[in-house]
Formats: sequence, structure tokens, C-alpha cells
Amino acid sequence: MRRRTPDVSLSSLYLGKDSAWRRRIGDSGRYVMAVVGVSDESRDEGYGAGLLDHRIPLERRRLEALEAFADPGTCSVIEHCGIRAGWRCLELGSGAGSVARWLAARCAPGQVVATDIDIRLLPQNVPNLSPLRHNVVHDDFPLASFDLVHARALLEHLPEREEVLARMIDWTVPGGWVHVDGVIIIQPPDPHQNAYHRCINALINLTTDSMQADFRWATALPGLLTHLGLEGISLHCTPGLVGPGRNADALLRLTLEQTGPAMAREGLITQQDLTACTDLLDTCGFTDLAFLLLSASGRRKGSAC
Ligand SMILES: C[S@@+](CC[C@H](N)C(=O)[O-])C[C@H]1O[C@@H](n2cnc3c(N)ncnc32)[C@H](O)[C@@H]1O
Repeated sequence: MRRRTPDVSLSSLYLGKDSAWRRRIGDSGRYVMAVVGVSDESRDEGYGAGLLDHRIPLERRRLEALEAFADPGTCSVIEHCGIRAGWRCLELGSGAGSVARWLAARCAPGQVVATDIDIRLLPQNVPNLSPLRHNVVHDDFPLASFDLVHARALLEHLPEREEVLARMIDWTVPGGWVHVDGVIIIQPPDPHQNAYHRCINALINLTTDSMQADFRWATALPGLLTHLGLEGISLHCTPGLVGPGRNADALLRLTLEQTGPAMAREGLITQQDLTACTDLLDTCGFTDLAFLLLSASGRRKGSAC
């Protein structure tokens, strides 16, 4: 597969033939970073079978609910990597951009490149943050360009996830950090016990069959990162609970609101189950473990010079 490579070197300005470019000047004034946009082919992927399209009005709120659940775990693990002023960071599949914004604040005057196939929800006015329309499956970066490469809730959506993970390591400088946060949906022990379990089961089936996603894949991360040669691998787990006031309640509700009609259309669930599930989630004292966020990070061998 031919890949397109935007030049993100911090010392040069490069305008490729697609030339939807952005330029950012670091606070220090010492560096100019040019990022070259990629062609419209980047938008043509079947991400989320169209159900998670950023043009759907609810999607911003759903992504913000994901951020509220996942940001504490993500940011504490990146802090643990020792993020410093001046780092060059790559945030892949940035969604609504909370991690990109946080990285930009933490690494200033370093630079953050925040990619997505659809960048409309990304912050456009942060001086050291460059949104880049980029398809991580088809588009490339120069080797060893970043001190930190991070992806959250992205690889589980991509059939090419292991190939992309290997390329994330290629894009990291020797001694730099690769960090992946994977979302795991917890399979109910008895999928028919109650309407909540039926809905979770239907969600797993919809994401697997129609979206080509794999919400168990993150359990393979420790083995994969080891196999790919990373050192100092660390793991951190954030439980995602649902029920009144719980940390992942809004994420599940908004996900069911958005995908429920498709699940009902495909006969995976009934409308009555969806309503009964919402009632259960509203019930004082109800709780269950819907998600785990597995945050896995490791260091590329070698030392930065
Ligand atoms: C579930 S959201 C996660 C957003 C963000 N990483 C977070 O955790 O808050 C997945 C994001 O990946 C983006 N995405 C999907 N396929 C992609 C691809 N092939 N290349 C780059 N981004 C992609 C989607 O547009 C979406 O914004």
C-alpha cells in the first residue's frame, strides 16, 4: 500500500502537492513546524459504519463523555512517562481534542500534531497544536519524528490495528514513548439477565459485525508492545462504571442513544429493551461495570541524542 508522508520536521517547511497546510511557530520562536494536509481519500473510511460520524449532532457530546471518563487515566499515565516542555507529540484519532489540548499545555513550547479523519471538532486556536486531517491507515509520518505518540479508543476501530501500532513505534524517536489507551467493553456473564445486559451484548455484536471494531483487543496490548520491542512497559486500568453519578454513565447512555436505532433495526435488541435499559440506568443504586480503559505505554529502545 502506498503511503503519503507529511513532513513534520521541526526545522523545515515543506509544502506537498495537497498543500492544505498549516504553520505553527513555537513559543520559543526557534522552530517552525509545517504539517501538510492529505487528500480527500482520508475521509472515505467506514469508521463506525457511519453511526459515529462527527456531523451527527450527538457525537460531540458522546466524545466529550468519553473524555470525561478516560482523561484522568490517560493524563496520569502520560505524566508518568515524564512529559516535558519541548516534546514533540503526536495524538492520533484525536476526536474532540481534550488530550491534544492537554498535551499542548504540558509540552509547550513543544508542538502537538493532532490527527483525525475529520478535524472539525478539534481546537483550532491553540498556538502549539496543529490539527491535521490524516488517515492513520493510509497516511504516513517521517520515521522517528515524535517524542510521544499516543492513540486512544482508535485502534480497536481499525481492522489494520496491529500494522498501525507497529508504525506508531516507527514514528517515535529512540528513547521516546508510545502510549495506547484501549477501551474494553465488558461482556455480561449472562447476556439475557436484564435489559442492561441485553443492550451491552447487542452493542458488542453491532460493533463487531457492522463496525469491524474489536472491543476486547486491548487485552492483547501488553503482549503486542513487548513483542514489538518496547521497554519499560507499564499498564494502568480505569474501570468504567454506569448508573446514577458513575464515571462512564454518560458515555454508555449517549452511545446507546446513538447506536440503539441501528441495533433495533438489525434485530439485535428491541425498543422495549432500550427503554428498560435507560430506566435501569436511572435507578438509584443500580451500577455495573460496562468498560475498562487499559492504558499501556512503553519506550522505544535507544536513547534520544
Ligand atoms: C472513539 S473516537 C476517540 C477520540 C479520542 N481519541 C478520545 O479518546 O477522546 C475515535 C476517533 O478516531 C477517528 N478515526 C477513525 N478512523 C481513523 C483513521 N483511520 N485515522 C485517523 N483517525 C481515525 C474518528 O474520527 C474519531 O474521532
